Amino acid sequence: VRVGVLASGEGSNLQAILDRVHGGDGVEVVAVGSDKPQARALGRARAADVPARAFEQSDRRARDAAMAGWLTDAGVELVVLAGYMQLLGADFLARFPRRVINVHPALLPAFPGIGAVEQAVAHGAQVFGVTVHCVDEGIDTGPIIVQRALELPGATDAATVRAALRPLEHDLLCHVVRAIARGDVELAGGRCIVRPDDAAG
Ligand code: GAR
Repeated sequence: VRVGVLASGEGSNLQAILDRVHGGDGVEVVAVGSDKPQARALGRARAADVPARAFEQSDRRARDAAMAGWLTDAGVELVVLAGYMQLLGADFLARFPRRVINVHPALLPAFPGIGAVEQAVAHGAQVFGVTVHCVDEGIDTGPIIVQRALELPGATDAATVRAALRPLEHDLLCHVVRAIARGDVELAGGRCIVRPDDAAG
């Protein structure tokens, strides 16, 4: 499966995909896009010889259209949002039907949007976690594919929680990309399901 990754920042999730699944498991990362020209993710892509491009249009529709065209020209079949901090509009999503996934640092539907870990800490959450889900037009509202939880009772520092969640994110996102490449993720009845015999891998 030809994968396009969108990322706005650091790009550690992108790096995990590049290191662990790119070039094997039927997965090829062929394009990395960002809304932020200074995103470290772009440099990570270039270091791996993957075409990378920033889309600086401030108008979302214009940015979405330019990105969708670029990804389509690259033959992208699966779009992975790895810390992409913009909403994607209906027109973009229609170009990649059921083929856009996102990683989010909370157990959705709790704590959607930006600052998820800060929100969770502020609520006194004791169980944190990571969700990989299909993307729809809402803010982190699409069907859940997989989640993993982490008990951190007494957590008060968002940075510490984020650091603890990071390896879970990397594992889960790589797992889902591999499962999609194998054809083992189904969207059925509004739910995204990873075939049970792959749930542990
Ligand atoms: C990750 O924690 C990801 O879950 C989060 O941004 C971070 C990006 O890190 N995404 C969201 O909050 C989306 N709502 P990275 O740039 O190091 O991969």
